[in-house]
Amino acid sequence: METWGADVYPSPSDRTDFGKKVLAEDPENPGSLGIAISEAAEDASKHDDAKYTLGSVLNHVLLHQTVIGLETKKQLELVDEYPDAMYGCVGGGSSFSGLYWPFYRDTVSGKAPKDVEFTAVESTAVPKVTRGYYTYDHFDAARMTPMGKMHTVGHMFVPAPIHAGGLRYHGMAPTLCLLKEEGVIKSRAYNQVQTFEAAAMFAKTEGILPAPEPAHAIKAVVDEALRCKKTGEEKTILFLLCGHGLMDMQAYDDYLGGKLRPYEYPEEKVEESMRKLKKLYPWLDVEAE
Ligand SMILES: Cc1ncc(COP(=O)(O)O)c(C=O)c1O
Repeated sequence: METWGADVYPSPSDRTDFGKKVLAEDPENPGSLGIAISEAAEDASKHDDAKYTLGSVLNHVLLHQTVIGLETKKQLELVDEYPDAMYGCVGGGSSFSGLYWPFYRDTVSGKAPKDVEFTAVESTAVPKVTRGYYTYDHFDAARMTPMGKMHTVGHMFVPAPIHAGGLRYHGMAPTLCLLKEEGVIKSRAYNQVQTFEAAAMFAKTEGILPAPEPAHAIKAVVDEALRCKKTGEEKTILFLLCGHGLMDMQAYDDYLGGKLRPYEYPEEKVEESMRKLKKLYPWLDVEAE
């Protein structure tokens, strides 16, 4: 980014009021996507020449990414295949939605030749879909954005500093969450040690170094393929390799050096976050323990 002339500042930064507030409360705060969104929105609101647009979660972003699924369908047609199961990692849900929406369209319009299983894969350090609440919450930490109904671990959530930075977001695309609630989409979570094991296996067998985010989907695919191997089931499994890992050398170095920790977000932290949310908005149908 700097090569192309940008200035890059890590978030939380001392360049916004919200960033300063976060740092004053905790100088060691490792940041989150929710905090970075608040800082970016604040910066844009203070500069006439700046604009801010959310990079995931919202419908227009998901729709934009459907080029992924549309192209995939065409490629599969060339080899006369249709997936039985589809996997993608989810941070805000845009890349996976971009993959599954065109296939889900086949399902709802009765055109799908098979019953396809859709599985969203996330990090155990940020388990919004697998362990979060389905309720209204803000899309950013400073509550500058409106609320949306989604799976959330709370907008004030501060995730462990895992290498899959793109998955460190407290909420999820509301469309994906609704389909999860309706049983159309399944979800799974893995920790970063498990995912890097799968990533290393993938790199060795395919010659492609995956980013830490899609490594979560790879882990789910490896597990499913091994399960099928045991049962003798034949399945066409499709997953999204949404990023390569050539920018993530430090992550691989940490993995190979045995420095990665298998973070799990504690259950009581989810409850604490939800109690805070309920205190802010007593009308929410949240029953935190
Ligand atoms: C490589 C990669 N994959 C996945 C994601 C997660 O975002 P989304 O779920 O919106 O695709 C990110 C986010 O930054 C990313 O960089």
